[in-house]
Amino acid sequence: MYYPDELIEEVRSKNDIVEVISGYVRMQKKGSAYFGLCPFHSEKSPSFSVSGAKQMYYCFGCGAGGNVFTFLMNYENFTFRESIQELANRAGIDLPELEYSESAKKEADKKGILLEINKEAAKYFYYQLRQPQGKIGYEYLLKRELSQETIHKFGLGFANKTSNDLVAYLKSKGYKDQQLVEAGLAGADEKYGLHDKFWNRVIFPIMDINHRAIGFGGRVMGDGNPKYLNSPETLVFDKSRNLYGLNFARTSRKNHMILCEGYMDVISLHQAGFTQAVASLGTAFTMGQATLLKRYTETVLLAYDSDEAGTKAALRALNILRETGLMGKVIDLKPYKDPDELIKNLGAEEFSQRLDKAENGFLFEIRVLQRDFNLKDPEEKTRFHREIAKRLCQFSEEVERDNYLEAVAASYHIGYENLRKLMQSYALKNGMAKPIERPKSGIQSKNTQEESIRKNQRLLITWLVEEPYLYTSVKDFLSPEDFTDELYREVAEKLFEELKSEKFSPAGLVSMFEEEEKQREVARLFNTKLNMLTTKPEREKAFHDILIKVKEQSLEYYSGRLGSDVTAINRVISGKVALENLKKTHISLKE
Ligand code: CTP
Ligand code: MN
Repeated sequence: MYYPDELIEEVRSKNDIVEVISGYVRMQKKGSAYFGLCPFHSEKSPSFSVSGAKQMYYCFGCGAGGNVFTFLMNYENFTFRESIQELANRAGIDLPELEYSESAKKEADKKGILLEINKEAAKYFYYQLRQPQGKIGYEYLLKRELSQETIHKFGLGFANKTSNDLVAYLKSKGYKDQQLVEAGLAGADEKYGLHDKFWNRVIFPIMDINHRAIGFGGRVMGDGNPKYLNSPETLVFDKSRNLYGLNFARTSRKNHMILCEGYMDVISLHQAGFTQAVASLGTAFTMGQATLLKRYTETVLLAYDSDEAGTKAALRALNILRETGLMGKVIDLKPYKDPDELIKNLGAEEFSQRLDKAENGFLFEIRVLQRDFNLKDPEEKTRFHREIAKRLCQFSEEVERDNYLEAVAASYHIGYENLRKLMQSYALKNGMAKPIERPKSGIQSKNTQEESIRKNQRLLITWLVEEPYLYTSVKDFLSPEDFTDELYREVAEKLFEELKSEKFSPAGLVSMFEEEEKQREVARLFNTKLNMLTTKPEREKAFHDILIKVKEQSLEYYSGRLGSDVTAINRVISGKVALENLKKTHISLKE
């Protein structure tokens, strides 16, 4: 941990979660909590809740949840440390200097300096574009129909014809030759010394999601080679983990993202109102970028060039999307080359219609595949059908597979039954998918059983969090070991300790875990939906039942481990006694 726990807790408690989240999400009070539209998934009716009492948030729709730190980690993409710093700042708390290891410190310093240099460079380029020497750049952008507002929004700039003015400027600011090279803005040359990487180009600063310039793209004005020149990868510029335009797109609140190939495409889409557009950075789309997108959406619409190269790139991108668990669709841009040209020629309204008509990724693949076969030739036609059958096997879920089967059979006039049989024989032969039969639930029932055990454990924990006074009545029956999931047990240990010492704060408990994933899971533990029972006897019975279930299930769990786990036998013996006593004990709830 970077800061002392008490300090983290002080920062947390001085930032009321309702106030902080109100700055991001519009919410209304309903009962004891505030509700609003979840910023982490797309929805029409509010299932995102923030509790002032617990100082936690939780979305009943997508399961996002945590304390005020988790929220910033999620929403602003901060690290745990950054969210502590942000909130300390907000509450006017001074944080001590962090004690980094020497090497970590050097790296952080280096990154900080590169970001500073990029920022200075971006400002310089931006300024040059508005000077007489930058007029040619400004006119180029206007000719491409960008408005002044758009040029400003994307921070576009200009690199002068002079080949070392940026270097001279940055050096006058005190930066060293070596640092300018490491920032990717200068090249060293034996003959000419240090010179600018970019000259006589319009400049597109590339920003990370926190709007910090991490690199640059520069375009020649007119024809020339290379058309685009990009910053090399640096300590702060990882091309496979950033997307152009995502700093704006991530708050566009659409249920999808548009992925394009070029900077200009993103810019003209945003100008036309499609602020959900992003592009990769002069390189092919990567898994890292797909994972990044998955934080914000489930569906990605590809607006790749309509030429052969664009189609190939789209097929690769579809594969990556599928592997990441995202749904991919393809926008038809014909007869134009790219989204920028389509919008210029046909307007935003037409593009919007094309969005609505985006083709399902799988059907797009099959359509492209079809071009390799001459369907008038029976042999080729058969091979085409086989290839379809083979590809259908990739869907492991029966309903999904069947829906695709139906769609493809209809589009290519293949008999549904024939195609189904063909696919089934493939599936059996290659073990690629289960035969089309209801799975006889071996593994599945085990999973659901485990999940139901965990659910009971979650319910019990939530109950104790909501009514902490109950702990005194249950402590003789219940121990952290009764929670058989590792994380749950860890939480129960911490929770019981706090309840014992009466210094109980569920939101504080969340920040004992550093990773966002764990914080989210803990929030889930504390926010399981309790049934809305109204009368006291009903609620008492429900609580008693849950307690008994958790106890019984833990007994069963440890009984199954007798022999492999030496402590299991003690757990079983004491567990039996506790369970017997518990059954005879009445536990009262407050009104
Ligand atoms: N690109 C690149 N280097 C090149 C050509 C292209 O890095 N020599 C990248 C750029 O990120 C560019 C994207 O590939 O934005 C798409 O290239 P292309 O389709 O050729 O350009 P457009 O985006 O159509 O650019 P413009 O409209 O300005 O011609
Ligand atoms: Mn273009």
